Amino acid sequence: MADRYKDIPDWKADFPIKRTEAGYVARRDFLKVITLFSGIMAVANVFIPVFNFFHKRKTIKDYFVCNVSDIKIGTQKTFYVDGDHRNPYMLIRMGENDWRVYEQKCTHLSCAVIYDHEHQMIECPCHHGFFDAKDGKVLQGPPPRPLPRLNVIVKDDKIYVEDYTYEKQINHKAHS
Ligand code: FES
Repeated sequence: MADRYKDIPDWKADFPIKRTEAGYVARRDFLKVITLFSGIMAVANVFIPVFNFFHKRKTIKDYFVCNVSDIKIGTQKTFYVDGDHRNPYMLIRMGENDWRVYEQKCTHLSCAVIYDHEHQMIECPCHHGFFDAKDGKVLQGPPPRPLPRLNVIVKDDKIYVEDYTYEKQINHKAHS
């Protein structure tokens, strides 16, 4: 037995696969990868409908933000619609009856933007991006898109935003 391996280098004795069999090994590895990939795809096919079952899109018609008296002209207020902390919004009071609501995340790299009442602009301090406070359009800097905007409704001295749609986790038990 020892004689049989005496002319074989140590490294080859540790991996006793003949050159002609090497192709089978590679094929076996390839089949393993394909099987693993198919398994992942099968799990994803089950996971996606389950995920969709628990995460539904929810639309809120009128969401109350604050009273008119809560915010002075030239200032801003940060808020979240229905506790959705992924999207901070800023309510801006540009004049007596002049309101705007924009997403408070810069469209470049999501830094928090700030309202500059004196220049009627919204500034991103990270890379000096500037947006027009009247319509959210980009005035200067790297932001690629205008700030997303929500419609504002003023009713009985109260401020609302309308038609806010987002992914919400629904508690199915509560509705069954
Ligand atoms: S993150 Fe706002 S300009 Fe870069």
